[in-house]
Amino acid sequence: MTKSLNIGMIGYGFMGRTHSNAYNRVPNFFDLEYRPVLKAVCGRNAEAVQKFADTWGYESVETDWRKLVARDDIDAIDICVPNNLHKEMAIAAAEAGKMILCEKPIAMNVAEGEEMCQAAEKAGVANTVWYNYRRVPAVTLAKQIVDSGKLGRIFHYRANFLQDWTIAEDLPQGGEALWRLDAAAAGSGVTGDLLAHCIDTALWINGGITDVSAMTETFIKQREHQLTGKVEQVSIDDACTFMCHFNNGSLGLFESTRYARGHKALYTFEINGEHASIRWDLHDLHRLEYYDHADESIVRGWRNIHVTDGDQPYMDHWWVPGLQIGYEHTFVHQVADFLEGIAKGEPVRPTFRDALETQKVCDAVLASAKDRSWQQV
Ligand SMILES: NC(=O)c1ccc[n+]([C@@H]2O[C@H](COP(=O)([O-])OP(=O)(O)OC[C@H]3O[C@@H](n4cnc5c(N)ncnc54)[C@H](O)[C@@H]3O)[C@@H](O)[C@H]2O)c1
Repeated sequence: MTKSLNIGMIGYGFMGRTHSNAYNRVPNFFDLEYRPVLKAVCGRNAEAVQKFADTWGYESVETDWRKLVARDDIDAIDICVPNNLHKEMAIAAAEAGKMILCEKPIAMNVAEGEEMCQAAEKAGVANTVWYNYRRVPAVTLAKQIVDSGKLGRIFHYRANFLQDWTIAEDLPQGGEALWRLDAAAAGSGVTGDLLAHCIDTALWINGGITDVSAMTETFIKQREHQLTGKVEQVSIDDACTFMCHFNNGSLGLFESTRYARGHKALYTFEINGEHASIRWDLHDLHRLEYYDHADESIVRGWRNIHVTDGDQPYMDHWWVPGLQIGYEHTFVHQVADFLEGIAKGEPVRPTFRDALETQKVCDAVLASAKDRSWQQV
């Protein structure tokens, strides 16, 4: 018999929508022991949160997240709010014995993330962080190909995450929708927001990072703050580039910016090995490019794999070979894996501890940029 997992979600912005969609879709496409029930959603504006609840099918609303966490009818707390709120909410949820699904980056810094890990581990509650790009079928396939040894020794890991939405000087910082520009709410700029995704994927596919050397820049140094109405210093990094060494001896090169005119969410990575290379691009997320030096020379070249076959990760849950899926499905996959993990009593990766490893790299990157020095992770 199907068991219910009662979800209490905090925050109903961009991620609130992707997660709600995923909870609704998962039972249609995955045959699982647990079924998510949209018990309650929490937001500070009663009217707006009720409208969201009606749209997505939540049974009830709360306007105070502490009340949501205290409710007996909630099994799992889903944290979809700005980064400065993750720690307090996650610790309260753990202490209330709730499972936790927390948005990325895990926290503002390593110290906060460590406290969250300890709280979740002490309470013994299932926990995961929404690094959803792991669950793009083409990215999961890249991981399987690397794990199979087809690339041989890895020499290079290269990743970019490029956007262009903060170039205007009159764009304010802080408050609803623009909290990402306010270091007090976001912790950092592109490092925690965008590079964190690239780092999570890299650690997962290519293993640990030993040390980093980074540079950051804040191109627009003052912006009006939406909440105070005053022109204030901008303390986030608008752009960040870093190089690193991986434990496996390969070299890493990462770049992220919100000042790459023309790019909206260009997350790409390329891995070069002794025998083969792999390349992936979020704008064409259902494709994986693969070059195999073992191919006969007259047909050797980059293959463009349309990742839609039932043999490829997650695809047997969707349509028929040749028909692709998209961005929102990565969240469906994460929910499905979470539900499967709790049914089996197994950790659901990335756990808080896994996400803390990404946070360690982010903190080392920011420290390196500040000191203009190499930093151990
Ligand atoms: N996994 C991903 O790819 C991905 C993508 C975008 C954002 N994120 C992460 O998700 C989190 C939320 O980002 P978003 O883009 O959804 O932001 P958003 O601004 O769209 O939504 C944030 C929500 O939090 C609510 N909120 C703020 N303070 C609150 C409080 N005290 N109590 C209750 N609700 C509160 C806001 O009203 C809003 O509904 C961030 O940690 C972000 O880094 C992850």
